[in-house]
Amino acid sequence: MSEYKRTLVTTALPYANGPVHIGHLAGVYVPADIYARYLRMRGREVMLVGGSDEHGVPITIKARKEGVTPQDIVDRYHTLIRDSFKEFGISFDVYGRTTSETHRRTASEFFRRLYDKGEFIQKTSEQLYDPEAGQFLADRYVTGKCPHCGAEGAYGDQCEACGTSLNATDLINPKSAITGATPVLKETTHFFLPLDKWQARLEEWILKGHPEWKPNVYGQCKSWLDLGLQPRAVSRDLDWGIPVPVEGAEGKVLYVWFDAPIGYISNTIDLVGDDYTKWWKDPETRMLHFIGKDNIVFHCIVFPSMLMADGSYNLPDNVPANEFLNLEDDKISTSRNWAVWLHEYLRDFPGKQDTLRYTLTANAPETKDNNFTWRDFQARNNNELVAIWGNFVNRAMVLDHKYFGGKVPERGALEDIDVKVLEEVRQAVAATADDIENFKFREALRQAMNVARAGNKYLADTEPWKLWKSDPQRVATILNVSLQICATMAIVGEPFMPFMSADLAKMLGIDKLSWDMAGRDDILPAGADVAEPKLLFTKIEDDAIKAQTDRLERIKKENELAGWTPAAVKEDVPFDDFEKLDIRVGKVLACEKVKKSKKLLKFDIDDGMGGRVILSGIAASYPEPEKLVGTEVLFIANFAPRNMMGHQSQGMILSAVNPDGSLTLCSPSKECKPGSSVG
Ligand code: 2FM
Ligand code: ZN
Repeated sequence: MSEYKRTLVTTALPYANGPVHIGHLAGVYVPADIYARYLRMRGREVMLVGGSDEHGVPITIKARKEGVTPQDIVDRYHTLIRDSFKEFGISFDVYGRTTSETHRRTASEFFRRLYDKGEFIQKTSEQLYDPEAGQFLADRYVTGKCPHCGAEGAYGDQCEACGTSLNATDLINPKSAITGATPVLKETTHFFLPLDKWQARLEEWILKGHPEWKPNVYGQCKSWLDLGLQPRAVSRDLDWGIPVPVEGAEGKVLYVWFDAPIGYISNTIDLVGDDYTKWWKDPETRMLHFIGKDNIVFHCIVFPSMLMADGSYNLPDNVPANEFLNLEDDKISTSRNWAVWLHEYLRDFPGKQDTLRYTLTANAPETKDNNFTWRDFQARNNNELVAIWGNFVNRAMVLDHKYFGGKVPERGALEDIDVKVLEEVRQAVAATADDIENFKFREALRQAMNVARAGNKYLADTEPWKLWKSDPQRVATILNVSLQICATMAIVGEPFMPFMSADLAKMLGIDKLSWDMAGRDDILPAGADVAEPKLLFTKIEDDAIKAQTDRLERIKKENELAGWTPAAVKEDVPFDDFEKLDIRVGKVLACEKVKKSKKLLKFDIDDGMGGRVILSGIAASYPEPEKLVGTEVLFIANFAPRNMMGHQSQGMILSAVNPDGSLTLCSPSKECKPGSSVG
């Protein structure tokens, strides 16, 4: 790291077509922020660049659905996303947007430079075109029957029913999502970046030059390179995006994945103007792209090819991409509302940003997909942040106020146990730094936590409260050491939990945190004032967690209902077969649970013929069976009697199966005479 003068940290630009959720935070923004904050505390020159990605087809689809313009959509979400990141303390030096004038100019000029250098090839192919709307159709704008599973409503790029990737031209009975018209094939010419031209250099640079990249990143690059790179289209027929700045290309815009990464450059320019070259072109600047795994190919193959084609830019030094975060064992999904949205979290847990940052880092999907659960979140807050981190600081400060009136006491000679704890703290600090520098943020956080663990053990072992009467000088030493550990916690905790750190530094009267101070035994001078302790973390109660898990339950039910379709109709049967079944109306005289059975209810039925008993497996849907007395039901009267759980069941009661698997008894719509035939 030391050979670089400065570090440019970029974070994937989220699409401005919806709010951001915990997956975004865990995968990209918290790790990037930890890294940038750490470098700043080390006194390094660093820039953290972010912004919204405001082009692309999904934005136009959303706008059309809502009857507003794409600009309305991106204005709304850019603001929401930017504010959410700010509230979570993501310390962007700049947070721009790809609809800005700077970006339009920068991306246009970039394209034009490559065009003038002859870096593109042009290819003509047939694509689907909506003759009524008079426009070419992006894959997402074509729907039809899936050629693999036969499901209706498959998109031009993917069937959501069977998950297969499709070509829009393979769909059966394709329809335009704009007008419903049947699309026709029409020739169109596009600009392609010949990635194959850069294959050898990419192999040299990544496969030979960067064996230290994370295995998930290196592996993905290798498989792309092994497959052999192909030219990739970088323009689209669309009316939302940056116009292709070439004569004769009217109606075409830059492909969103061509313009988005240039957004990193534009946003740098927005912040520092012409000085951007220092951040992008000086070989003494190191560039890091923080992204999620779905963006690897664009940041390791496509964007670097663009940069190589230009020839004047640095290539990234590392791309520490993360895997995905799941929520309660299910994939996070915007369309299914299966997410914890940051703006909603801020409403439900005000002031608890650090708890989420902590949980997401402790569970970061660094080497494999990982899972967020509300129970784990609560446990981490209550058992780790409150019981370990906050507890140590609180004990040290309360004791200091009790014995020394809130001043840092002068310490005497250190004993072995003091030297030992200070050494443990120093080692944990060094390990934290080492892990952050190697993008191992989970482990780094565990090491930072070890500072608090060591502090708690130190107080438990030294028991200063027992020594006050006999040896106040010793108590002064113990509390001096303890307060120095608190000060180290303000420093090593800052990249992970900046709000906690600011509170703690303020209580300890530290103006400016610097990493070099961490682990030292003289951060706080004797005699300095220590403020009244206030709790750094507070417990999260069960009802707050239950409200969240209830919400997810509700969403799961809604999704089940939304995705539900009636079961396929069974094979035809002759009428005679139907007539063999004798269906009757009966009235419930009594109903109770069958002992030792979770499923069965026992019905005493007035069948108009002297009565009968029927057992039915619907206990789960009717937890208060006695309330069914008086209800009329339909039952099959001519099933041979069956013995179940010590009772004889004389027939079968009819019920409907609901989408969630629950059952509803079928009743006649008006009162009938028990025993009436149904047919
Ligand atoms: O996957 C995404 O959300 C993209 N909007 C990321 C773009 S990253 C960059 F290139 F701007
Ligand atoms: Zn399918």
